[in-house]
Amino acid sequence: MERLNSKKKIAVFISGKGSNLNNLIKYSQLNKSLFKIELVLSNKANAGGLKFAELNKIKNYIFDKEIQLFEKGAIKLISKFKIDIICLAGFMRILSPYFLKEVKIPILNIHPSLLPKLKGLNTHERAIKAKYKYSGCTVHFVNNELDSGKKIVQKKIKILKKDTPRSLAKRILKLEHKAYIEAIEKII
Ligand code: GAR
Repeated sequence: MERLNSKKKIAVFISGKGSNLNNLIKYSQLNKSLFKIELVLSNKANAGGLKFAELNKIKNYIFDKEIQLFEKGAIKLISKFKIDIICLAGFMRILSPYFLKEVKIPILNIHPSLLPKLKGLNTHERAIKAKYKYSGCTVHFVNNELDSGKKIVQKKIKILKKDTPRSLAKRILKLEHKAYIEAIEKII
């Protein structure tokens, strides 16, 4: 009971299929978890990840018009539900400097590369094309520059000769799931 009350409340922002979200939800339901997923916000009405929120009876909201409306809605909800941490999990929009200033809680992002290498999109394709030996994922704080905030956890994996962007993405996603939990627990 004690632990339940002291668990940090997390809002997860998504745009897509939500495997990171689902993994965070599953972990948060364990007694040992230091956090609970309180809210899910999506900027896409058809984001697959919304089903995980529904299945687990987590409050979820869609703001799929302009990003300004998403941010306005998010600011209200974060204050209303006393959220402690925001986690971006496959959230494919850039948050404005206004939002980052307004929200006084940590914002974490997960990115599928070994930052500072390969900021931005299509990381797996670019890692293979550049013939990198390793790739991986990074959980970092969000700041005003794309994929540039302070690193919290980074995990790496060897790129195999036979890897395609798809196979690499699949293997890295598994690492992402571990990395996100480690990162959250580290900052709590
Ligand atoms: C993940 O690979 C995540 O690192 C990436 O989108 C995927 C979302 O998967 N995020 C970015 O590229 C952000 N720039 P998921 O919806 O299954 O969690």
